[in-house]
Amino acid sequence: MRRTFPARRAPEAQSISELRHLARRRLPGFVFEYVEGGAEDEVTLRRNREAFEGLALVPRALRDVAQVDGRTRLFEEELSLPLVVAPTGGNGLLHSNGDLAIAKAARSLGIPFSQSTASNARIEDIAGLDGLRHWFQLYVFRDRSIVDGIIDRAAAAGVEALILTVDANVFGNREWDRRNYAKPSVPRLSRKLETLRHPRWMRDVLMPGLPSLEVIQDFLPEDKRSLNAATSWSRDQMDPSLSWRDLDRIRGRWKGRLIVKGLLSPEDAVRARDAGADGIVLSNHGGRQLDGAVSPMQTIGKTRDMVGPDMVVLLDGGVRRGSDIAKAVAMGADAVLAGRAILYGLAAGGEAGAAHAIAILKEELLRVLALLGCRSVAELNSGFSPIAARAVT
Ligand SMILES: Cc1cc2nc3c(=O)[nH]c(=O)nc-3n(C[C@H](O)[C@H](O)[C@H](O)COP(=O)(O)O)c2cc1C
Repeated sequence: MRRTFPARRAPEAQSISELRHLARRRLPGFVFEYVEGGAEDEVTLRRNREAFEGLALVPRALRDVAQVDGRTRLFEEELSLPLVVAPTGGNGLLHSNGDLAIAKAARSLGIPFSQSTASNARIEDIAGLDGLRHWFQLYVFRDRSIVDGIIDRAAAAGVEALILTVDANVFGNREWDRRNYAKPSVPRLSRKLETLRHPRWMRDVLMPGLPSLEVIQDFLPEDKRSLNAATSWSRDQMDPSLSWRDLDRIRGRWKGRLIVKGLLSPEDAVRARDAGADGIVLSNHGGRQLDGAVSPMQTIGKTRDMVGPDMVVLLDGGVRRGSDIAKAVAMGADAVLAGRAILYGLAAGGEAGAAHAIAILKEELLRVLALLGCRSVAELNSGFSPIAARAVT
């Protein structure tokens, strides 16, 4: 990549790719790989980018774009742009109080924050941020009483939407995971020694003590509360018998908005809608689960056609530019989720870095809309469908 004078600090970064570059320098190798990695040969991880890059935008000329509006509405509330923070576990490994930092950044830029079951913050601590749109992502454990307990806590804390993740109950084959760790959360000696080259990370994350899995902490046996023991415990607890019956059960217990994340087939999207889900996230888990799986950008068109115009359809995987958001919305998504793009910002510069990542995406989206001759997010859906970049029309 041609970059003669790269940014040295997060606020100087011009793009998500530059934030990634800073994150790579700031984080120990095993932590960067945790953020970056996909499953097996990372075909799906690459496909997520290729699906965006393979689409070409067709701008319309002479349309007066002096006023361009990036706002949209999701579940009857306004978003400053069609973007939601994806749930990611272990944010506290990237920066101290990583969840709180991203949540504050999301609040300041007017987009929802999704907190993971594997978060390093308590649900109540995130819920305490006045004015934040707080979504919570649920993993289904073997012990359903724990699942019920987490749902009830999310409800009591006033969480707006529950995201049920359905694509990770069989753990993907992440080879780097086994390569880097002697056992879950215990890096091999050579990886530990490499952290010495990252003194800021050591001061910020390691010295205060590695963060625990705060959401599930109260449900863990006494001897399973360290990060390492809790991570092993939760992997063992992932229940491969997860089925549509669980969705019915959870729909019965959770009275708020329910979003099913991790679908890729349009038929499953219809089934989720018929089971009472308010929304879905088309997702391949950022290429971390089934390698070879399709990218959500390949199934969004058919999914939108099949579920109809009213259901909230979100997608994620590979969002790195404002133009990606525009393409997803033009193809039928209501909004996108971003995982790594925001994590790079967090790792590079804490709350300000995460906010900078969101601001970059927002600024890029507004510029793309103007260059397209499109004045609003709503207009994207009428007449701005991208075409296959290789197609000759
Ligand atoms: C480091 C990392 C941790 C993640 N943890 C979770 C999680 O706890 N729950 C979940 O539903 N998805 C998790 N995901 C998947 C994201 O929610 C999202 O689907 C994915 O990151 C989207 O791809 P992108 O990173 O290219 O934006 C994680 C992804 C990453 C990169």
